[in-house]
Amino acid sequence: MAVVTCIEDLKRMHRRRAPKMFFDYCESGSYTEQTFRDNCSDFASLRLRQKVAVDMSGRSTASEMIGQPVAMPVALAPVGMTGMQAADGEIKAARAAEAFGVPYTLSTMSICSVEDVAAHTTKPFWFQLYVMKDEEFVDGMIARAKAANCSALVLTLDLQILGQRHKDLKNGLSAPPKLTLPVMLDLATKWGWGLEMLKTKRRSFGNIVGHAKGVGDTSSLMSWTSEQFDPHLDWSKIARIRDQWGGKLILKGILDADDARLAADFGADAIVVSNHGGRQLDGAVSAIRMLPSIVAAVGDRIEVHMDSGIRSGQDVLKALALGAKGTYIGRSYIYGLGAMGQEGVRQALEVIRKELDISMALCGEKNVKALRRENLLVPRGFE
Ligand code: FNR
Repeated sequence: MAVVTCIEDLKRMHRRRAPKMFFDYCESGSYTEQTFRDNCSDFASLRLRQKVAVDMSGRSTASEMIGQPVAMPVALAPVGMTGMQAADGEIKAARAAEAFGVPYTLSTMSICSVEDVAAHTTKPFWFQLYVMKDEEFVDGMIARAKAANCSALVLTLDLQILGQRHKDLKNGLSAPPKLTLPVMLDLATKWGWGLEMLKTKRRSFGNIVGHAKGVGDTSSLMSWTSEQFDPHLDWSKIARIRDQWGGKLILKGILDADDARLAADFGADAIVVSNHGGRQLDGAVSAIRMLPSIVAAVGDRIEVHMDSGIRSGQDVLKALALGAKGTYIGRSYIYGLGAMGQEGVRQALEVIRKELDISMALCGEKNVKALRRENLLVPRGFE
């Protein structure tokens, strides 16, 4: 097996192994993909400050996110259709996260259901909720996440309406894939993926099919989903969900200091500074660029997490140095999963942990919790 030294290696392997429709689904941003590109290039524009002759023994990447201990402050972000990148993908990713000691977040739009993942893991994971118009479905989903012993609800706020991703339309994205001629030609070269898929029954959206009004099969699901994201979502609806859930609540998709203040006033446990990995508002500023102003606005009142663009441990270091208490990776672990299943997710986490540890040491820091702005050279535009 090829030696994996960085996330880019896993991405190349994912591209070779998974059907084009699903690799493209992972890799795309909305519209011109400007924000998708900026997320990574803005990380690259930050520079680390090297320090020498500092005792580097006894280093630690351990920390806490929302009061829960983590081996490093890097959670797995919710990613729809993870179970199409590898058979039973959500279970594999959750098991890899559990073994590593970091949180796993299961998406509403997952292939394996919340019950499936709970049955194959031993520790609580986090559940991500999309607010749908069908309140019965939302209430049912909250009850199911509670019954599955999920230890946090991640409520995504930046997808009241779907940003268009051109590649998905062109590829005719669906789960399971419709067997058109181009899809069949592609699958002929991806037989490893196909054989694996044949062995699982989980090939459609497990949280939704059979649980939402009028959704009994995959074709009814597609039309239900496209109409269901709730355009009326406002703070009163969020309050209803908070009261029903009653546990730790993380609000995901905040990119503005005023919205962050509202979230802090509201009393959430954490916010995720995020632009959905560049998949929603194309032209929006990168999440890492907005992070310092949001930390300055609310960092003393609410835990601030961030995602969008993290592809290395150096990126994690930069986000923590700019004030994030925790980070999430999306594509970085999906590449690993698509490349080689659970072992690929483990390798993605291990690559990031090692990079974080070594870079921290070379910055003269032993403890991940001590990272601060002075570890970086920050160009203008990040204030
Ligand atoms: C996502 N994201 C996402 N977010 C969410 O709240 N619910 C979801 O179902 C999904 N689905 C999804 C699918 C795919 C393929 C991607 C790449 C992303 C966004 C995700 O949680 C996270 O915010 C981004 O992935 C972070 O950016 P990076 O790390 O991928 O650059």
